[in-house]
Amino acid sequence: MNKSEAKKRTEYLRAVIEYNSRLYYEQDAPEISDYEYDALFRELQELEAEFPELDSPTSPTKRVGGRALDKFEKFTHRVKMGSLTDVFSEDELCDFLDKTDTLLGMRAEYSVEPKIDGLSVSLTYENGVFVRGATRGDGEIGEDVTENLKTVRSIPLTLKEKLPYLCVRGEVYMPRHVFDSLNEKREAEGMPLFANPRNAAAGSLRQLDPKIAASRKLEIFVFNLQEGSLYGDGHACKTHSESLSRLAELGFTVLPERRTLTSEDIPERVRELGEMRPDLSFDMDGAVIKLNDLGARVTVGEGSATPKWAVAYKYPPEEKITKLLSISIQVGRTGVLTPIANLEPVKLAGSTVSRATLHNGNFIKEKDVRIGDKVVIRKAGEIIPEIVESIKSERGEDVKEFVMPAVCPSCGQPVIRDTAGDGTAIRCVNVACPAQNMRSIVHFASKGAMNIDGLGPQVVELLVSNGKISDAADLYALKVEDIEDLERMGKKSAENLISAIERSKTAGLERLLYALGIRQIGEIAAEVIAARMQTLDNIIAARHEDFASIPDIGEITASAIVEFFREQRVLELCEKLRAAGLSFNAVKEKKSNIFEGQTFVLTGTLPTMTRDQASELIKERGGKVSGSVSKKTSYVLAGEEAGSKLTKAKELQINIIDEEAFLRMIGE
Ligand code: IVH
Repeated sequence: MNKSEAKKRTEYLRAVIEYNSRLYYEQDAPEISDYEYDALFRELQELEAEFPELDSPTSPTKRVGGRALDKFEKFTHRVKMGSLTDVFSEDELCDFLDKTDTLLGMRAEYSVEPKIDGLSVSLTYENGVFVRGATRGDGEIGEDVTENLKTVRSIPLTLKEKLPYLCVRGEVYMPRHVFDSLNEKREAEGMPLFANPRNAAAGSLRQLDPKIAASRKLEIFVFNLQEGSLYGDGHACKTHSESLSRLAELGFTVLPERRTLTSEDIPERVRELGEMRPDLSFDMDGAVIKLNDLGARVTVGEGSATPKWAVAYKYPPEEKITKLLSISIQVGRTGVLTPIANLEPVKLAGSTVSRATLHNGNFIKEKDVRIGDKVVIRKAGEIIPEIVESIKSERGEDVKEFVMPAVCPSCGQPVIRDTAGDGTAIRCVNVACPAQNMRSIVHFASKGAMNIDGLGPQVVELLVSNGKISDAADLYALKVEDIEDLERMGKKSAENLISAIERSKTAGLERLLYALGIRQIGEIAAEVIAARMQTLDNIIAARHEDFASIPDIGEITASAIVEFFREQRVLELCEKLRAAGLSFNAVKEKKSNIFEGQTFVLTGTLPTMTRDQASELIKERGGKVSGSVSKKTSYVLAGEEAGSKLTKAKELQINIIDEEAFLRMIGE
């Protein structure tokens, strides 16, 4: 093929690929099969490699993610990215409409739109080419995430017309089905789950490696023109709805389900949108009601932090009614028996729910939940839904009361009521209980512990039930041949798993101590103890007072750890781990003690480091990191999109610092 033929073919391929990817992502109806799409895509990649002069930064091949970055650069928005005042009832909504109509002296038109629960970004185009994309940040300064946004297929890399300059705002989100399969995969691999699509989208957009972002299949809805003229001749739009229609013409995916209405029709439409929530492909946490006429917006004006011409109506968390079919018992790592509700599957907040936690026997009694009852379930920020109540008025004759079992469903040994804590726990105390053993191995491999990628509950269950392992130390004797034939495994996964197991040998005392699953010892306590004791042998030899004298280690924790290492089976496991070649030494060297006795809480997204990295820096300097703000918190290190923790810190008048101040504190 000569160059001019290649040029033609390249242009053709780019057009067909963009066209079909649009159909696929927006309407779920491509005109070619995935196979054909992949073939065209590969052909284009090959042509671009063969004729580098034909390559282009706006080619669809660039959507697979380019080079990984070290950090995100800051980006100052030319037009501030503001936020909205929330209203929580129809009364408040009507107040807003009345006030605005009165001020304007007319029945004004409003755009009523879904409020997408995602992340706000700005997209800048120069001469019709996508040049810059940034997160909202604090509204004035965000982060340059251009490379990651290029992987979002609903963001056009070039516009249908070569307009000189355009800046638009939209909400990046993770479609619900993408979220479900991402979490399913993460669960199988033993990785922590994302609580909701918004967190998953945020985590994906903040990946320094655009290839990871590309694999997360994010989408966008554009909802505002920030700056620039939408017409080549400089004609300015008069209304918001006109600007959105024009943005759609230019190739953007704009907000669906928009309506332009006057006040009398708005409450009903808001209700209607709310009813649509369960069936949408994206999470919607509210409706936005904004003046349609751009001139009228200027008349109404801006408040101190939010515009006066718009409000966000927030919907309460979605609830569903379903039937409680049965209750099963899960035995945890520490032997606690947790009742789990098995439900008639229902769609709730975008995913199918068939299980919910019932916490403990007391919860079931207090709520008077019976098998066969109709129950109301809700997802409240958590991954596992909760049961709100049982509907007594619809209770049939055939419902059954549930009693917590007297014996462990896994090993058959009698259970005891644990008087520690709030006294609600029922526990199996058999150290040889198979369910506990299984859960202990899962915990051993988990991310905060030995961090063995690919060793989630399903794989551990397979390994145990096939007699490949009976404790955590047995993992280190596994070979590829032992596991490649297991269900859903295969050679490649087996090899990866073996290398992950091998790598974990040097995880160090901090992680090992946590991985052993001693009651009372969380990740933080494990780090504190490892820093003081330095080796596992020192810990095994230490006495109660040695632990109790460590700051932040109380009497109960000290007793728990001493008792744990008195058990013969524990000492045997440690010897097996030693023989397998695990490091028993602390890896962390202390950098300084500047943060000794101080507790930090991290919230929001930091500009140049992840929260894990910031935690490391704090801990290396003797400080502690906690998950919640209290009077004891010394500092709240807050980044972009910080939420309720920041609000609480302000209430309690805790020192709030940003990353820059933090870096100064540590002298970097
Ligand atoms: S309008 C001046 N419209 O919700 C504020 N915002 O506080 C302009 N959002 O972070 C915002 N869907 O990113 C608007 N249809 C929509 C929206 C929307 C989602 C987000 C926005 C902002 C938050 C509002």
